[in-house]
Amino acid sequence: MEPVGLVERISREEFLTECWDYRPGEHVTIIGPTGSGKTWLGYQLLEVTATPEVPALVLVMKPRDGTVRKFSKENDYRIVRNWPPAVSPWKPRKPSGFVIWPRFSFDPDRDNETMHMIFRRALLDSYRKGKRILFGDEVYSLAEELGLTKELVTIWTKGRSMECGLWVATQKPTHIPLWAYSQAEHLFLHFDPDKRARERFKEIGGVDPVLVERIILTLKRHEWLYIRRADGAMCIVEK
Ligand SMILES: Nc1ncnc2c1ncn2[C@@H]1O[C@H](COP(=O)(O)OP(=O)(O)O)[C@@H](O)[C@H]1O
Ligand SMILES: [Mg+2]
Repeated sequence: MEPVGLVERISREEFLTECWDYRPGEHVTIIGPTGSGKTWLGYQLLEVTATPEVPALVLVMKPRDGTVRKFSKENDYRIVRNWPPAVSPWKPRKPSGFVIWPRFSFDPDRDNETMHMIFRRALLDSYRKGKRILFGDEVYSLAEELGLTKELVTIWTKGRSMECGLWVATQKPTHIPLWAYSQAEHLFLHFDPDKRARERFKEIGGVDPVLVERIILTLKRHEWLYIRRADGAMCIVEK
């Protein structure tokens, strides 16, 4: 068995600039508890990946999210309330990303209905047109609360050929479709104190599950185990 010490630790900066290699259409899955830095990592990856030609569409399901606000501003992503966004009379420069952040009424029935409609359009429009990165920041809610499992599975299984990459983050690894594991080219796993959550990581094919769990137990806050499924390569991405 490969000792944990053989898995290289790489600084965040070096990982983003030297190791991260992304082709349009590849899927990404980020799994960690609340506060572990999923949204932060997702945006850092988008920063070095999304372009005006292959833009990111970030689907936001929370009425407030400091990390989303900070990075959207820094990256000049356009925050829109609907999809497709209203056409502007002047032609603004194409951004590298759009943040789809529907207005909240704080009535969960209405909000779920609105988000279902808007996010469904964004998912299917991206699947049809291709050359997009969809970032579903809370895929459990997208799938279960908004009932978008079918649309998500379609993109997981067929989006790649359209160069429509589905990037998802979740804090509930036990409740998301297995496609999130089997179709993701790139996986990022955080330490999770919940044993059942870690058990789920055994569903990842092509890597030694015992080694994965042992590495995860050594991770500190905001550190990630990165797994590239194509060749089973792993490294620890530091804070
Ligand atoms: N790489 C990092 N370096 C420093 N602080 C971080 C890092 N990642 C996350 N954080 C901190 O953790 C907080 C939660 O991050 P966030 O990405 O919003 O978590 P999550 O989406 O998993 O709930 C951020 O407000 C930030 O303070
Ligand atoms: Mg988050």
